[in-house]
Amino acid sequence: MKKAAKLKKFLIGIIVLVIFIQFVRPQKNSGERYPSGNYTTVLSVPADIKQAVETSCMDCHSNSTHHLWYEEIQPVGWWINNHIHEGKDELNFSEFATYSVKRQAHKLEECAEQIESGEMPMNSYLWMHDEARLSEEQKVKLKNWFMMQSQALKFSSP
Ligand code: HEC
Repeated sequence: MKKAAKLKKFLIGIIVLVIFIQFVRPQKNSGERYPSGNYTTVLSVPADIKQAVETSCMDCHSNSTHHLWYEEIQPVGWWINNHIHEGKDELNFSEFATYSVKRQAHKLEECAEQIESGEMPMNSYLWMHDEARLSEEQKVKLKNWFMMQSQALKFSSP
């Protein structure tokens, strides 16, 4: 086969594959964000903290994601779905009350660490979600709040 013919076959193969994978859709993360076991039912959460967690963390750490149009395009949707699954496994604010108190305290401490180190919210998320970027002031507030909640829980049940 000539080189050009080979290339053409290859490109057609890629196009068919790209079309085909569009039909393999991940399930949407579309439960309730604040069901009865959500974190605000066991912690007292000031309005500004709740708002910051809402815009910067909840898309990946809750039972409900505000999905955007480009998630309809595979494999972008798969990639994002993977983040949501991993994020929820690590920490789910919608089901926070179901964790043992020890685990709650540990997760809150991790939150403070993740914010301090700048690892969360994930960089790749910030490309398309500028509103989720935390200001220095918000970072300090969140970090302190998470740390204080964690200490309070550890103190209440050592
Ligand atoms: C784009 C999705 C996304 C967003 C937004 C996001 N996370 Fe995560 N988060 C993940 C993923 C994926 C993991 C698991 C893999 C990892 O640790 O990188 C994770 C892990 C974590 C962990 C466990 C890390 C550890 O110690 O191993 C904590 C705590 C956490 N996130 C807190 C937060 C907080 C707090 C916010 C908001 C300020 C946030 N995340 C925003 C996706 C996200």
